[in-house]
Amino acid sequence: MLSYASLLIGYLLGSISFSYLAGKLLKGIDIRQHGSGNAGATNTLRVLGKGPGITVLLLDMIKGVAAVWIGTWLSGGDPLIQVLSGLCVIAGHNWPVFFGFRGGKGIATTIGVMVTLAFLPALIAGLIAIASIALTRYVSLGSLLFTAILPILIWFMHYPVAIFILSLLLFVFAWVRHRSNIGKLLTGRENKLGAKRQA
Ligand code: G3P
Repeated sequence: MLSYASLLIGYLLGSISFSYLAGKLLKGIDIRQHGSGNAGATNTLRVLGKGPGITVLLLDMIKGVAAVWIGTWLSGGDPLIQVLSGLCVIAGHNWPVFFGFRGGKGIATTIGVMVTLAFLPALIAGLIAIASIALTRYVSLGSLLFTAILPILIWFMHYPVAIFILSLLLFVFAWVRHRSNIGKLLTGRENKLGAKRQA
């Protein structure tokens, strides 16, 4: 039963919104009222600059890694607990209990979780996502591609079914959270990396 505590720990860990904290600590602002309004690394980069953006990206990824590790440790490596811990930390990031359930889109934390559970697929999907961002300057497109490619790679590389199902759920999470980005991408109004302002 102790192993199920890792789900709560994961959710609480995910609920620590580093982008919100960075906004408050560095500028006294609520990051959710600036830029895209998203409490995530991309918007931190946009609103607060490179240093805070990269720091938030790393901390959000570390949350994902840590949650899976805690799940592994408390369950003795039970794959179901590992996967559920990953799901819970991303749910915490997206709907944080400490910040009125208004969080981010979960991509950095998803990277942390999936690098831990399925390293090679996450690496390949990550490289494709980075290439697409470099070519188009659309971070959201890279995020969407990353989560769409992962389940395909995980399936073809014969990872455990629990990890495949997790990757499908994370794909749904990410695409639902990015629905406004998808609308803007389709109408050519999406913000490009490095562009100053945004709707
Ligand atoms: O991971 C979030 C990114 O894909 C998009 O962020 O702030 O441009 O909506 P944003």
